[in-house]
Amino acid sequence: MPENHRLADEFTHGLLKPQATTPPKAFYDLLGSRLFEAITALEEYTPTADEHELFGSPLAQQQLRERLGDGLEVVDLGAGSCQKGIALLRALPGVECYRAVDISEDFLLESLKGMREQFKHHPTLELSAIAVDFSAGLPPQSLPAPRPDRPRLFFYPGSSIGNFTPEEARDFLADLRSAHGGCRLLVGIDLVKPKGELELAYDDPVGVTAAFNRNVLRVIRQTLGVEIDLRAWRHEARFNAVASRVEMHLVAQSHQRWAWSHRGADHVREFAEGDSIHTENSYKYTPEGFAALLAAAGWSQPTPILHPSGRYALFTATAEPPSESR
Ligand code: AVI
Repeated sequence: MPENHRLADEFTHGLLKPQATTPPKAFYDLLGSRLFEAITALEEYTPTADEHELFGSPLAQQQLRERLGDGLEVVDLGAGSCQKGIALLRALPGVECYRAVDISEDFLLESLKGMREQFKHHPTLELSAIAVDFSAGLPPQSLPAPRPDRPRLFFYPGSSIGNFTPEEARDFLADLRSAHGGCRLLVGIDLVKPKGELELAYDDPVGVTAAFNRNVLRVIRQTLGVEIDLRAWRHEARFNAVASRVEMHLVAQSHQRWAWSHRGADHVREFAEGDSIHTENSYKYTPEGFAALLAAAGWSQPTPILHPSGRYALFTATAEPPSESR
């Protein structure tokens, strides 16, 4: 099924719920991907810089090499600009193959071109792009067959796992482990921090995150063909301490009525002033909480490497090889 039909299904389903929602992938068209890159340059938004610092730290590099080994095939889930992949490959020079996986093919190809240039002095490094929506899982057939002499490392950086609910994150990681036995995992986690810090990170004074959130309205307009007054919506970021997540919402500033047709049916959604569309959850974990989630997903030896600030962690884990009988 073409990707925009699937997105239209998901928008129609989410927008008709009593609390309207949109899926996380709605952010990442070409403009949204660029706005996200801009967010990662904001001083209020720390996960990307913290993770980058860890990859540059000699101590963290040594721990990564000891735990993950050499000769790896890296599968970068949500590779985007490939900046995190580049940082990982610099930290682990023994990587032999890098596969960038993401939903936006145009952006991925552009990023990989830049990466080829950066690694032109490493001609044996294999680089490839795989355009796929892995939000509902990554079946083994979406990747080339693994080579027995090249351990597969799933790299899920940037705390993107926090955009799943903890149950979805557990199921996603459990499916990854059981579908790709014998693989390794490296995943970035944003840790719980004070409410004021978190809300500033998701509602920065320059307004980049507000633009990133409001861009979802453009994507809805393009995907569903619905007329939308973009100026009628305000960005809001709230920390929900009970669920340990930052929520992003788009709040209607006046009554809004959206009408669209999808798969032969007509739909209408009305928003009263103050009603919101819940566009994102970003879960924040404690190191213990995330280690327990990995263990519940069946991963062995879940071990963190903590950023000195205590704001961020990289977790490594391994999956047992598939048993002979399977
Ligand atoms: C991609 N993801 C991990 C980001 C986050 O922090 O949840 C997306 C984001 N939303 C607002 N700012 C950044």
